[in-house]
Amino acid sequence: MANNSSLAVSCRQVTKTYGSGSAQVQALRGIDLEVYSGELMMLVGPSGCGKTTLISVIAGILNHDNGDCVVFDHDFNKMREKHRTRFRGQNIGFVFQAYNLFPTLTAAENACVPLVINGMSKRQAIKKAVGFLERVGLSDKLNRLPADLSGGQQQRVAIARAMVHNPRLIVCDEPTSALDHQTGHKIMELLREVAVGPTRALIVVTHDARIFEFADRIAKMDDGHIEKVVNSAKEL
Ligand SMILES: Nc1ncnc2c1ncn2[C@@H]1O[C@H](COP(=O)(O)OP(=O)(O)OP(=O)(O)O)[C@@H](O)[C@H]1O
Ligand SMILES: [Mg+2]
Repeated sequence: MANNSSLAVSCRQVTKTYGSGSAQVQALRGIDLEVYSGELMMLVGPSGCGKTTLISVIAGILNHDNGDCVVFDHDFNKMREKHRTRFRGQNIGFVFQAYNLFPTLTAAENACVPLVINGMSKRQAIKKAVGFLERVGLSDKLNRLPADLSGGQQQRVAIARAMVHNPRLIVCDEPTSALDHQTGHKIMELLREVAVGPTRALIVVTHDARIFEFADRIAKMDDGHIEKVVNSAKEL
């Protein structure tokens, strides 16, 4: 991480509570976190500590309750819904923990969704999506439906979809959970190449110690807090 590089993400005292009354769960209890352009930040911590909640807030998918979440100088709580949706569509790529592919669309159609949403013609979008599917090793699966793909293949379609529109921030929830060691490494190399640069950043939630080496910094979460941010897995 270059110290003078610009902030991609800044969270200040971000809180999020689900439900109400006795069913209330305080998932984020005052998150402070900064991610800089040019870095790959990994987010680790026990199941249920709030990782998916936090990255959903950062990606503008979920509204937080209090505090500030600013992404490339855009404060989500101060943006109108329509503006936020457009900003998210153009600037953010998201890999969901459960992939969230559309079951009736082929791999190529799924991967091109962000481009079509941003106004590209389907023909052009498919062409671009095919390029990314080739890079994740799925050139022979372009016309398959998700149900006809393995878990690891579906995960790679989701990763291609997150990269296809050249977003400035890519956020991945356990992107190697269904991948073997070698494929996981290749995917992380590709993600680093595509998603980390002078004006772009990558956030990866993971339990997979085999990919810690790809991180510039690692934030350790526990019970809705950031416990510490370290430069290497040895310090965890
Ligand atoms: N939609 C929801 N409604 C109510 N509670 C929720 C909801 N989503 C998450 N939670 C709760 O919020 C807390 C944080 O959940 P979150 O999914 O962010 O954890 P996580 O760190 O991603 O866990 P995992 O590693 O298992 O994916 C948990 O206690 C969870 O039960
Ligand atoms: Mg999760």
